[in-house]
This record gives sequence, C-alpha cells and structure tokens, in this order.
Amino acid sequence: MLTVGFVGWRGMVGSVLMQRMLDDNDFAGIEPVFFSTSQTGQPGPDVGVDVPPLKDAYDLEALKALDVVVTCQGGDYTGRIYQELRQSGWQGYWIDAASTLRMSYESTIVLDPVNRHVIDAQLDKGTKTFVGGNCTVSLMLMGLGGLFEANMVEWMTSMTYQAASGSGAKHMRELLDQMGMLRDSAREQLADPSSAILDIDRRVTDAMRGNDFPVENFGAPLAGSLLPWIDVKMENGQSKEEWKGSVETNKILGLGDNPIPIDGLCVRIGSMRSHSQAFTIKLKQDVPLDEIEDRIARHNEWVKVVPNDKEATNDALTPAAVTGKMEVPVGRLRKLAMGGDYLSAFSVGDQLLWGAAEPLKRMLSILRD
Ligand code: HSE
Repeated sequence: MLTVGFVGWRGMVGSVLMQRMLDDNDFAGIEPVFFSTSQTGQPGPDVGVDVPPLKDAYDLEALKALDVVVTCQGGDYTGRIYQELRQSGWQGYWIDAASTLRMSYESTIVLDPVNRHVIDAQLDKGTKTFVGGNCTVSLMLMGLGGLFEANMVEWMTSMTYQAASGSGAKHMRELLDQMGMLRDSAREQLADPSSAILDIDRRVTDAMRGNDFPVENFGAPLAGSLLPWIDVKMENGQSKEEWKGSVETNKILGLGDNPIPIDGLCVRIGSMRSHSQAFTIKLKQDVPLDEIEDRIARHNEWVKVVPNDKEATNDALTPAAVTGKMEVPVGRLRKLAMGGDYLSAFSVGDQLLWGAAEPLKRMLSILRD
C-alpha cells in the first residue's frame, strides 16, 4: 500500500480534495499521513482509516518516508521544500496543486481524461513529479478535448470570466462584502418602488468608489464591476494567466514541438467558484456542426453539450447552474460569420473540482492502481 502524505489539506483546494476522496472511498486503498505547518502532534482528520498524529510539513525525514506527497499548500511551500527533498535523494511521487513546478522539464501536468497517454509515457520514463494545471486550461480541455483529440484546432482564443475563488478564500469573502455594501448603499431606495433608478445607481457608484469600500484583496471593486487583469504582467503584454493558456495547453497535450497558438484575455468577474470561457476556434477545416457536437460530447463522461438556444443556455451554462458539480457544459456552439471554419463555444466549470482538486485525486488513483 502506498504511504501518502497530505499537505495543505485544510485549505480551500485541499478541503475539496479531501471531500472528493471521501466521496469515492479513496482513503481505503492507501496509508494516509497528514501534515501541518502549525499543528504538529495534534490528531489527524477522520477519513475512515487510522491516521497518525499530524506531522511537521517541514520535517524532511518524515517526508522522505513517504511514497507520495500530495500538496495543496501553495507555491511558497513547494518552493521551500521540493528541491531540498529531491536533493536529499527522495525518489517518491510529488503531486502538486501549485503552479511553481508546472513548466519544469521534470514535471508533467495532469489531466488524465485528456492526457492519460502523456501521463503513462512519463510514468514509463520515470517521471515522479505531477502537477495540476491552471484552472481555466484544465476546464477548457475538459470541455473541448474532443476537438484537440481530432486534431481539428488551428488556433484558438479564450476570453475568460473567472470566479473569485481563483484568487483564494479571502477574495471570495471580499466579493460578498462588496456585494453587501453595494446593496446597503441603496437599501432605502430599493425598498421604495417609486424611487429613481438613477439615484440608486449614483449611490451604488459612490459606494464602489468610496474609501471604505473593501478592496484589500482584489485591489479594486469587483462587485458591480470586473477586473480585466489576472496575475502579473509578462514582457509581451500578456498577463501571466493569459500566457498559461498557451504554454500549459500545449504541454498537457504533449505538443511541445508543434504548439497550437492559443491566446486571449483573462477577466475576473463576480462569480464565486465557477470559471466561464468564451472561445473563438479556428478549425483546420469546415467540419459540420453536428460532427463537432458529437466529438465534443463523446470525449469524456463529464462534458455536456448544451443546445444553442436561450432557455437551455441560461438554464445549464452558468456558474449558478454548474457550481459544485463535476459536469463541464459546453454550449453556444455555432459557426461564426467569418466562415465555416470559425467556431464559437462557451463553457463553464467548477474551478475547485476539475480546475484544481480532481486531476490530483485522479493522479493519486493512477499511482495506487
Ligand atoms: N489562476 C487562476 C485564477 C486560479 O486566478 O482564477 C486557478 O488556477
């Protein structure tokens, strides 16, 4: 049985991972050991099997005793411990949610419904480091994997509508605080049906621009607004989130020598934990729409094609409908006015499930089985 150490299991992504593993009885097939950066010695969580008291996440000797480390602790932890652990001679498997090691030559980005062939080839070659992909990239590939599998995509743009959870738990709280404050700023006027909407709008705008509006985490108002920049600036003017769209997609697909151009704009919006994306896809050929829908739908068991009509779209293709679910709906599928080889698509997915925890959970299962 594999001895598996879990680090960062109490955070947002870690908690989703724990829940998904409990859902599928995954702890039964491993010997779990839980680590902590602050509560060494305290009892471990109840996961249905015996676990030792919490160990120190910085204790190299304790880590070296493991077959597998699964970490959702974040990039700082990975940066601090990974190289030291490897240099100590540890040959175990490192499964990581953080982006730190994603583009490293020694790591493979995991999304097995899309790149099981790449994962298997890397396991055969002795690769021991496996990293979850960027959430928008993983969700895009879960939705559009059928088109990439059929080698239909010449290039693609992705315009994202990313949820607050992608920035972290504190950001989700701040979004709700912002929403509440906007509502409170016009509470009396909202209660009065005869009040003037432009007066309500002025109060809301004043509140949003006020010095006491909570923006400590986002740095700017998000509720009632949006933020068209995510992560740091790259030299070419892309944001790092936009850069990841291309480099990670091509690495996941194993297309390093012959990459597919992918670019777009990444935007933070006021949804809680589901990312949405609008795609313009340049197809290599003018393929009939029904064949496209069929390829998308058949790619994996979680993708769902949503009919391109208003009722179905607003019913099934929204963060409100998708959050907490494993399904990745894809809709708005139609040929664009530019020609038969230009396809539009829109997808939504829970950023904490397929966008973060699920690929790690499944990688651990691949090692276990
Ligand atoms: N970078 C993503 C975001 C988080 O900011 O939404 C998930 O990879």
